Amino acid sequence: MKKSSPVSRSGRFASGPGADVAQFTESISFDWRLWRHDIVGSMSHAAMLQKIGVLTGAELKAISQGLEEIGQEIADGKFRWKAELEDVHMNIEAELTRRVPAGAKLHTGRSRNDQVALDVRLWLRDEIVELAGELRLLQRALVDLGAQNAEVVIPGYTHMQRAQPVYLAHHLLAYVEMLERDEQRLANCFERVNVCPLGSGAIAGSTLPLDREFVAKQLGFVDAKGKAIVTQNSMDAVSDRDFAVEFCAVGALIAVHLSRLAEDVILWVSSEFNFIKIADAYTTGSSLMPQKKNPDIAELTRGKTGRVFGNLMALLTLLKGLPMTYNRDLQEDKERLFDTADTVRASVRLMAAMLQNTTINAKACTTAASDPALLATDLADYLVRKGMAFRQAHHVVGAVVALAERVGKALNQLTLGELQAVDKTFGADALGVFDLKRALAQRNMTGAPGTKEVRRQLARWQASLK
Ligand code: ARG
Repeated sequence: MKKSSPVSRSGRFASGPGADVAQFTESISFDWRLWRHDIVGSMSHAAMLQKIGVLTGAELKAISQGLEEIGQEIADGKFRWKAELEDVHMNIEAELTRRVPAGAKLHTGRSRNDQVALDVRLWLRDEIVELAGELRLLQRALVDLGAQNAEVVIPGYTHMQRAQPVYLAHHLLAYVEMLERDEQRLANCFERVNVCPLGSGAIAGSTLPLDREFVAKQLGFVDAKGKAIVTQNSMDAVSDRDFAVEFCAVGALIAVHLSRLAEDVILWVSSEFNFIKIADAYTTGSSLMPQKKNPDIAELTRGKTGRVFGNLMALLTLLKGLPMTYNRDLQEDKERLFDTADTVRASVRLMAAMLQNTTINAKACTTAASDPALLATDLADYLVRKGMAFRQAHHVVGAVVALAERVGKALNQLTLGELQAVDKTFGADALGVFDLKRALAQRNMTGAPGTKEVRRQLARWQASLK
């Protein structure tokens, strides 16, 4: 049997939990990483307790110094975490109280229920800011790669079949757009994370005149005007984890986008495509086949999407059917949340690094993009310009494609006579359609992969990602 812990287990318990119970219920093995935020939260709470007369100035000073020392020891790796003290909150408070008698007053008007809600919100706020920064770096890497290869054209694909020509930059900028929306979603999620729950107590607030707004302001839970943002219902505040679900959902969508990008990279680096080359340091070899260079960063990024989805599902399931208010089940939120934050951030960072070390094989891209079949739609548009209905033009060009297949020629090798045998509307200028440069120059409406428009979009992103 363990000795009872010095902080939370009061006279009511004859003995501490058994070793198996302690091991089953502890969270210090993973929530230790909230220490920085736990200390900051406690300092603000203590400052508030002094303001309302619960602590003297000397007591506040002793508590603050004690917490600072403990923080330094944790940062230096010298602090001894004790599993029998269950979690990060009790470990820090117990050690503080051992050193500073006034530490016993720190938990006044506070419960671990509002404390853990606070710590996770503080931690997640920082994570969101960091992740948003990493996303911007990935956007930059994509824009840079596009800008450095602004002339390179590749086939665009639908159904994995060659469809129409696009600039490589246009393809890469599609991901920049996705990541931009991810950043917006993160910023939006931040607003709901950025609400201070402290003062909610275990479930029903406190009989003491806590100054919630003071604490919120100290911890930066403020709106654009500097006004404190605090939760408005104590029961909601201690049991709400939607903000964590939201973050995991945003993370899942980021993982989807990364996974799609990873899949493109994996295809492009294959001998069949050969569009790109990844620097050695960002590939791995095979233990058996000496010729192999594998795109493992992209594959793992794609693979890790599974656990990021799993984390979201785990959190949703955790919350479903939980009676009000705090239940110990909620302790299970942290590992899922941490894992999503760590996994997504690492994936974003490594994908950016890999792209910064990727070169484009312009020759292979040009060869693939020179397939005249990519401009079959342009030939239909040519007939439309001559006054033909598009449905009919589509049919006519279909017959032209069939003819080319039959006679074993590429589309642009057909003679005017052969074209006119399919339809008289074709004129001497029809074959000009297969000039790739001209074809791309013509696609200049907003969002199209035309020469001018892609340059404009590149410039726009370069300016906004400065
Ligand atoms: N370790 C707990 C968690 O992560 C902290 C809150 C515990 N509260 C309690 N009343 N047992 O949720």
